[in-house]
Amino acid sequence: RLPRGRPPAGWIPAGRVAPTQLLVLTLALRQSHTARLAQLADGVSDPGSLLYGKFLSLEQLRELVRPSPVTLAAVHEWLQGAGVTDCRSVATLDFLECVMPTRWVPDAPAWLRAPVPGAVGGLHRFPAKRKVVSKAWATESAPGAQSQQGGFHLGVTPSVLRKRYNLTKEDIGALSNNSQACAQFLEQYFHQADLAEFMQLFGRSFGHRSCVDRVVGQQGQGRAGLEASLDVEYIMSAGANISTWVFSNPGRHETQEPFLAWLLLLSNMSALPWVHSVSYGDDEDSLSGAYLQRVNAEFQKAAVRGLTVLFASGDEGAGCRKSPGGAHAFRPSFPASSPYVTTVGGTAFKNPFLVSLEVTDYISGGGFSNVFPRPDYQAAAVKKFLQSAPKLPPSSYYNSSGRAYPDLAALSDNYWVVSNRIPLPWVSGTSASTPVVAGIVALINDRRLQRGLPALGFLNPVLYKLQEKGPTAALFDVTQGCHLSCLDAVVEGQGFCAGPSWDPVTGWGTPNYPQLLQALLAA
Ligand SMILES: *[C@@H]1O[C@H](CO)[C@@H](O)[C@H](O)[C@H]1NC(C)=O
Ligand SMILES: *[C@@H]1O[C@H](CO)[C@@H](O)[C@H](O)[C@H]1NC(C)=O
Ligand SMILES: *[C@@H]1O[C@H](CO)[C@@H](O)[C@H](O)[C@H]1NC(C)=O
Ligand SMILES: *[C@@H]1O[C@H](CO)[C@@H](O)[C@H](O)[C@H]1NC(C)=O
Ligand SMILES: *[C@@H]1O[C@H](CO)[C@@H](O)[C@H](O)[C@H]1NC(C)=O
Repeated sequence: RLPRGRPPAGWIPAGRVAPTQLLVLTLALRQSHTARLAQLADGVSDPGSLLYGKFLSLEQLRELVRPSPVTLAAVHEWLQGAGVTDCRSVATLDFLECVMPTRWVPDAPAWLRAPVPGAVGGLHRFPAKRKVVSKAWATESAPGAQSQQGGFHLGVTPSVLRKRYNLTKEDIGALSNNSQACAQFLEQYFHQADLAEFMQLFGRSFGHRSCVDRVVGQQGQGRAGLEASLDVEYIMSAGANISTWVFSNPGRHETQEPFLAWLLLLSNMSALPWVHSVSYGDDEDSLSGAYLQRVNAEFQKAAVRGLTVLFASGDEGAGCRKSPGGAHAFRPSFPASSPYVTTVGGTAFKNPFLVSLEVTDYISGGGFSNVFPRPDYQAAAVKKFLQSAPKLPPSSYYNSSGRAYPDLAALSDNYWVVSNRIPLPWVSGTSASTPVVAGIVALINDRRLQRGLPALGFLNPVLYKLQEKGPTAALFDVTQGCHLSCLDAVVEGQGFCAGPSWDPVTGWGTPNYPQLLQALLAA
């Protein structure tokens, strides 16, 4: 029997229980030195700091965050009293994953009964998959399959991306000890054979790999998922010839919280790829404050280790939520709204048939957090946007003091993807932009590591500092178009609009590889 009442001090419930035989509970233990962790995350990522690039090893991180003996003893005692013996810890000692029979559930205290909405603030629905959609069915008569024979492009392929972002044949990975990763959840699997076919069809003009080197976790047997196929195919086309890992979290969402499982893996592995692309998220307001803060602390842990973590900004523009009183407000997305990740928005070609100017993709997620205050690194950029935007939505729709996102963007419209051996056109979403930016960051890491420089790590401080020095050619500024929001009489479906320099629709804009490389080699 589990003891009734509240958990010991320092515990927050972070997992969820399932109505099957075994219950897997993830316990997030109170970490030590959290203020120091935040300070270090800022220091190692800030090119102006003496700590810049002085990343911590997993062992050093453990010495920082490991729970106090008092916390560990309380937890131990509580578990023993409950007869729970089957627990596994992680290298940083701040998580426990325990397995226990479900017969305990009816007597579990309320805070353990996660499937009950409200008890743990909506953890049960995290993460919702970004909607990556193929619109092929809707465009039977539109030009599609013939595009590869034609001279001009009809859809985004690796050569279109590499041309637009100025990646030449020489711009591929050269180091065997550099790597990049994407994370998959909820039954999304990729097939090596799809990747091989994709590279055969679309990879002729640049050196690349055609195989994922390492799958961490378990890949299911079933059909390939569009999201997983897209991520793997495009991270390996932008970060071409760079060793690629896939973190596969087998969405047994009845028994385990897959997003937490990924965070646990990161805290339990000493050697990790430098760059992680994640195309998942959920509404910020559906998650409990404790959960948001803890996941944010996990991103600080990643930052002190020098990892770059990129999240898709979402596909619903500013989003929309009806408050209990009936008024509308925008709806930020998390982890996109975390101040310790780099968030990627979406663009489309102004002329869909030419590799040319990019404009806002109206789906591009963006806005302001209601939970995390605006971090220092973006203070000037956001202030300037708020002061100079010709037209802003009514202030009741968003919280202008919050962390604003996205940080940058890439094409998100009209991609070709091979899934289950079939080339599919019209695949869209910020799910596509994110692995593209991830591959480009991994390529810049490759050049930095070759010169004995540290990896880029958490990118935002250096990115904002770089752009605030004045206009650079490192990113193509996206200045046209607005994204979508609430369909009501006040805003009429319109959220924020892109403008010169940073904006909460496309961030600083899209990468111009040679100039971005040059600027970041100097950081
Ligand atoms: C973390 O890694 C250790 C050593 O490999 C392993 O024994 C342990 O079970 C892992 N923890 C979890 C939660 O998987
Ligand atoms: C990069 O691409 C843009 C537009 O495609 C072009 O104007 C520019 O000259 C290219 N080269 C460099 C080095 O920026
Ligand atoms: C691809 O990367 C490997 C190291 O992983 C390197 O040895 C090889 O030279 C690279 N290929 C090209 C064409 O540069
Ligand atoms: C990776 O390889 C490069 C070139 O061989 C070397 O300079 C660098 O120290 C290596 N980095 C790590 C982390 O092993
Ligand atoms: C606005 O954001 C701040 C954090 O920046 C937060 O403390 C505050 O509660 C938010 N206000 C509302 C109404 O959500």
